[in-house]
Amino acid sequence: MSLCYLNGRYLPLDEARVSPMDRGFLFGDGAYEVIPVYSRRPFRLDEHIARLGRTLASIRLPDPHRPDEWREIIGEVIDRNPWQDQSVYLQVSRGVDDKRNHAFPKVIRPTVFLMSEALVTPPAHQREEGVAGVSAADFRWLRCDLKTVSMLANCLLRQHAVDQDCVETILFRDGFLTEGSASNIFVVRDGVMLAPPKSHLMLPGITYDVVLELAVKHGLKHEVREILEDEVRHADELWMSSSTKEVLPITRLDDKPVGTGRPGPVGRQMHAWYQDFKNTVMRSE
Ligand code: PDD
Repeated sequence: MSLCYLNGRYLPLDEARVSPMDRGFLFGDGAYEVIPVYSRRPFRLDEHIARLGRTLASIRLPDPHRPDEWREIIGEVIDRNPWQDQSVYLQVSRGVDDKRNHAFPKVIRPTVFLMSEALVTPPAHQREEGVAGVSAADFRWLRCDLKTVSMLANCLLRQHAVDQDCVETILFRDGFLTEGSASNIFVVRDGVMLAPPKSHLMLPGITYDVVLELAVKHGLKHEVREILEDEVRHADELWMSSSTKEVLPITRLDDKPVGTGRPGPVGRQMHAWYQDFKNTVMRSE
């Protein structure tokens, strides 16, 4: 049984209750994080807590906890759940009001909820063969840099992939790559790794940062710049990154092979660097 945290209490997930008057439920008014945990140690925790702080500040919701308090709650949730590798979900909403009103309540008591699941990273066959992606117009709002729980557009876009037996939807806005429905996207052309620059049009992924750091550390040629849709469609390699997918090759896009149609050398190398980095960090913490 999964153990969760709700407003100061640790309790079995199936006993947790939130009011339907919660603004997270009524308006999708809240922020969230997904933190990967390996061998019971959260990966890049300070970065996740800092991003949560930035989302909360941008949506004008006071952060209910200091970083040390967040670390303690997250640590408890990890300890009280059975898995070695976990995916911790953390959500802060603007809490319960006594009437439905778009404007914020006068007194705000945020709802803080955390739960954990077994971390399921992509199976070996997906890493070895790559996965299929589809494309779609990015019709989300103009604050995609915020990790808010208003996720309907992302859900519709992810379902668009699932409906076509694909794993991810790659998004284009005004002729440029933004990201995936739940991941960041990297492109390889002529041995150079390309990454779209952080902006209000994409989530600043924690894994995205790790990938760029690894490129710098290992001297991989790379450019952070706007990427044309056409460059994606004629890429040698494509891969997605996220806390749960790590680094995963996309070998088909809209039913056409990407490059050779097999995972490419740069993506394979990045996956290996990522695993090494993860193992080193986890051993040293
Ligand atoms: N999603 N872009 C979007 C739209 C995302 O939802 C995510 C992650 C990412 C990658 O961010 P990170 O590397 O920090 O995980 C990029 C999480 C895993 C989710 O919603 O489940």
